[in-house]
Amino acid sequence: MQTIIEPFRIKSVEPIYFTTKEQRISILEKAYYNPFFIHADDVLIDLLTDSGTSAMSSHQWAGIMKGDESYAGSPSYYAFKSAVQDITHMPEVIPTHQGRAAEKILFSILGGKGKYFASNTLFDTTRANIEFSGAEGVDLLCEEGKHPIIPAPFKGNMDVDALKQFIAEKGAGNIPLCILTITNNSGGGQPVSMKNIRDVKQVCRENNIPLFIDACRFAENSYFIKLREEGYANKSVKEIANEIFSYADGCTMSAKKDAFANIGGFLAMNDKELATKCRNLLIITEGFPTYGGLAGRDLEAIAIGLNEVMDEHYLQYRIRSIEYLTNKLIEAGIPVMQPAGGHAVYIDAKEFLPHIPVEQYPGQALVGSLYTEGGIRSVEIGSLMFGKYDDNKKLIPAQMELVRLAIPRRVYTQSHIDYVAEVIIEVFNNRYNIKGLSIIEEAPILRHFTVKLKPVTE
Ligand code: F0G
Repeated sequence: MQTIIEPFRIKSVEPIYFTTKEQRISILEKAYYNPFFIHADDVLIDLLTDSGTSAMSSHQWAGIMKGDESYAGSPSYYAFKSAVQDITHMPEVIPTHQGRAAEKILFSILGGKGKYFASNTLFDTTRANIEFSGAEGVDLLCEEGKHPIIPAPFKGNMDVDALKQFIAEKGAGNIPLCILTITNNSGGGQPVSMKNIRDVKQVCRENNIPLFIDACRFAENSYFIKLREEGYANKSVKEIANEIFSYADGCTMSAKKDAFANIGGFLAMNDKELATKCRNLLIITEGFPTYGGLAGRDLEAIAIGLNEVMDEHYLQYRIRSIEYLTNKLIEAGIPVMQPAGGHAVYIDAKEFLPHIPVEQYPGQALVGSLYTEGGIRSVEIGSLMFGKYDDNKKLIPAQMELVRLAIPRRVYTQSHIDYVAEVIIEVFNNRYNIKGLSIIEEAPILRHFTVKLKPVTE
């Protein structure tokens, strides 16, 4: 059989709401051309994020009922801890209310002025937490990763030579951690190879720098290794994940991604002393160490989700469904990140809208058009999210201008995705009518969440 089917059936459905194009033009204007200001009821297909938007399974919902809400020592915490340890084999497991809370704790302890954190690519909240501590985050992405439309199997890899050079320049003593984001969300959802993880670990070991994994999408990354890396075809996803974490000294994870949970996250590590410092901070900011800002029911749902996500029928369907949309767009001549990533399709907005200069945020302009044309909500991952200003307030653009269409797990069907492809193709055919945007108001960090924009008028 050729067709890879959804490995589930639907027991409960949610309505989605239709609007007209005229209504959406007005909604977008009132939202200051920022998709984060649009009410979700005004969105038809919501591809803003794959975070916290998964459909939970009947087993997870049963876990929600089973969840024990004891303040201390809840059995749901022990189920959670055991699920995390089954994958990571790390002795210290600290729940947090989501991924960035784990980051905030970790970088408050390890960050500070004069410190540097090296990564393949830091996600926006990770970078923000590093910078908020006074430290600097540096992306050392491999060359293949910087060219959206040229395919390569592991475009999320870190440039190992660049890492060596970076350590030589800054001094190992000023680099508290090296972080590998798997898959590389800001770089197109592209995977990191086992070889790269091993090589990075080797450099870290030689320099006495701990390696942490940003493990949000560890199962998707593990499945790519199974498909693409020699020697892994006959290993289970669990074995591959175990090997990945065996090279790491610790990890942060947002359970809102590959654990199919609507909320939650954790920190896990080998270092007991560091874990004690993290727990002390956790108690002030998140809660007691056996719940860390989560309800017992959430811990239970995460424990179950962490196991479900390693099911290979699921992962085959998941990776194939992203590839399906990517291939449809490639066939229509639309510039997309290739090959398909693990959780999202990324359009190269610089190529899609060559008439809009980066200073006018082509990615954000495309996000607006996808919404007005078909009610699809997406997100810019480009200079609006990552751009900085030089001393003359001139934009220092991001490496790439991407628009991400993140696919929530187990939520949309193939006909939803066919519709998405039709809308994108329609927008592409009329792309020269799209205008750039200028900023009216912005925050100093993570500005994309609250920025207000308006169309550029000549
Ligand atoms: N790291 C990565 C790689 C992420 O993708 C995210 C979240 C986080 C950390 C932070 O986790 O949201 O639970 O605090 N990414 C979401 C996204 C928001 O849309 O990609 P969080």
